[in-house]
Amino acid sequence: MAPARVIEVVFLTVVGCALAVNADNAPVEWQKAHATFYGGADASGTMGGACGYGNLYTTGYGTRTAALSTVLFNDGQACGQCYKIACDSKSTESMWCKPGATVTVTATNLCPPNHALPNDNGGWCNPPRPHFDMAQPAWEKIGVYKGGIIPVMYQRVPCVKQGGVRFTINGHDYFNLVLVTNVAAIGSIKSMDVKSSDAANWMSMPHNWGANWHSLANLTGKMLSFRLTNTDGQTLVFNNIVPNGWKFGQTFTSKLQFN
Ligand SMILES: *[C@@H]1O[C@H](CO)[C@@H](O)[C@H](O)[C@H]1NC(C)=O
Repeated sequence: MAPARVIEVVFLTVVGCALAVNADNAPVEWQKAHATFYGGADASGTMGGACGYGNLYTTGYGTRTAALSTVLFNDGQACGQCYKIACDSKSTESMWCKPGATVTVTATNLCPPNHALPNDNGGWCNPPRPHFDMAQPAWEKIGVYKGGIIPVMYQRVPCVKQGGVRFTINGHDYFNLVLVTNVAAIGSIKSMDVKSSDAANWMSMPHNWGANWHSLANLTGKMLSFRLTNTDGQTLVFNNIVPNGWKFGQTFTSKLQFN
């Protein structure tokens, strides 16, 4: 166990030299926040979540995930985005830091405000605080368990995913709720459209919740294409990704991925 952990540690000095670059090639500054953990040592309590990714093991997000405070979650627009996080060793609160370590997590959940508690004592996710409530195995890469909360520095980084974008269709006739998962690069989706094979035009799919987009047409059983534009402005068309005769609850895996 120990060697594997050591290999995963990337030293901050190295990261600092290789100046991080955003998707639009602008240098990215580290920003300050705090981080706690949830969900248990096996991250079982992180399943589900406000992005709607469901079982994070089967959907590929694993234990490198985080719930974001309201200001970072941005009403679900942050779902699927990736963040590199390091404990802030220069902070006066750094006693529980694991110096030099970083971990990259995908946003999969909302850390809701707790207005019964003050912002600086338990209400960590209250606006306007930027806060990451991380899956415990991810948090323990950068913090010492008994500290409970650590000061962190974070920055957005491109998401690395295996394989193509996936679509899961839930709902019923005249209400299709389509969950978009396994999105690489910028990670987040700006807009989605659907077209059935018997239709001439694309129909816009409004954002519903988390990483879910919906259509109010009756598309049941029809061959469908999806069109996604990510928050970087890159558009991909997934032609006939959903075959005739599809059923609610099925997931369709494409070969296309954002870059
Ligand atoms: C929706 O379309 C399917 C396939 O054409 C049809 O079988 C079903 O009856 C329609 N549903 C409703 C509620 O009209």
